[in-house]
Amino acid sequence: MERIDSLMKHQAYLQLMDHIAAKERGRRFCRHGLDHSLDVARIAHILNLEGSCGYARDVIYAAALLHDVGRGLLDATEPHHITSAAFARRVLPEAGFDTCETEEIAKAIFAHHEAGSEPGSLADLLFRADKLSRRCFECEMYEECYWPEDRKNHVVSY
Ligand SMILES: [Fe+2]
Ligand SMILES: [Fe+2]
Repeated sequence: MERIDSLMKHQAYLQLMDHIAAKERGRRFCRHGLDHSLDVARIAHILNLEGSCGYARDVIYAAALLHDVGRGLLDATEPHHITSAAFARRVLPEAGFDTCETEEIAKAIFAHHEAGSEPGSLADLLFRADKLSRRCFECEMYEECYWPEDRKNHVVSY
């Protein structure tokens, strides 16, 4: 997991994560810090293994760690799936990911906010893990949350 270690020490990544933490201080709905990213990474990797999808663990972790980082851009005018994908294209080569891996991860991040990706693709794993990671069953904001009832997690699946 050397490339993930390198990514997690990247100054631009750490700065965005700091911005997210500052923006979400006191937030009562779901947060988007490292806990969330790692939950998504681990669930996506379980889905990857269960489905024999064949993705390298660090490719999955890179997608999960970066999928929401665009939320930390203070002056962004575009939604975070776009800014996070653009950020991924910039930092992944610096962490040692090749052009092909970088493009696949960035595309998965771009697509993570909506269903409909090819089943078993990196985008599909990321989308499903993102949703499955949320602990709706114990959330104090359950009633106020905009998620439709059938998307909320009522039990622990992963
Ligand atoms: Fe997101
Ligand atoms: Fe997320």
